[in-house]
Amino acid sequence: MLATWPGVQALLAHRVASELHGAGVPLLPRAIAYVARVLTGIEIHHAAQVGEGLFIDHGAGVVIGETAVIGDGVTLYQGVTLGGTGFETGKRHPTVQNNVTIGSGAKLLGPIEIGHGAKVGANSVVVRDVPPNSTVVGVPGHPVRIDGRRVEGPDTDWIHLPDPVADAMRTLSARVAELERMVTELGGTPPAVEPENVHALRPVRGRNPAGG
Ligand SMILES: CC(C)(COP(=O)(O)OP(=O)(O)OC[C@H]1O[C@@H](n2cnc3c(N)ncnc32)[C@H](O)[C@@H]1OP(=O)(O)O)[C@@H](O)C(=O)NCCC(=O)NCCS
Repeated sequence: MLATWPGVQALLAHRVASELHGAGVPLLPRAIAYVARVLTGIEIHHAAQVGEGLFIDHGAGVVIGETAVIGDGVTLYQGVTLGGTGFETGKRHPTVQNNVTIGSGAKLLGPIEIGHGAKVGANSVVVRDVPPNSTVVGVPGHPVRIDGRRVEGPDTDWIHLPDPVADAMRTLSARVAELERMVTELGGTPPAVEPENVHALRPVRGRNPAGG
């Protein structure tokens, strides 16, 4: 079993490297992490803090950076990166709280916090904190569910996006009507509008083009 499960091999190697690193042994922890990466395709920096019960499924291409912190019961699929965003120093990798699942290919970048119980969708790129018990998907990653409830808003309800041009026209139209009323009150005559030049705004007829 151990021989065929790269996630377990990488984790055991990391436990050893981490202990040695904590004891102040030079070079050897880095060498162990390097050999583990060559054998498993999983790179866990020897200084990364990893809790109990980390499950790395398939393994290939997983990278866990130096200042990453991983809680208990976390699941990572292949291709997950817990990385930094540049050449900063200090804490620059994510903190992943307990019972988080991170889908294949997801990139979590910077010193962000992934709340407990969160799910990160495959191939998401997450650069901001993730609320607990939420599902985050997309590039950049954004919550689509929090505590089991769908997150409403322009991100998920794209058929009903706000229309800023129509909003501006409505505001202008109301302003013109108000000015005409004021002109009439002052005894003047508002300019006549030719009825044939006035077109009522109506919704487009036919199938909803967003219906697919
Ligand atoms: C995100 C994930 C965890 C599902 O979470 P969930 O809470 O069950 O959410 P749902 O499946 O109900 O999806 C919620 C919405 O996000 C969308 N979505 C789900 N996963 C997505 C992803 N990876 N990228 C973009 N959008 C995604 C869904 O289409 C759905 O959209 P809708 O609300 O407009 O219909 C899952 O889709 C995922 O990516 N799991 C990783 C699996 C993996 O890596 N497996 C590797 C096996 S080798």
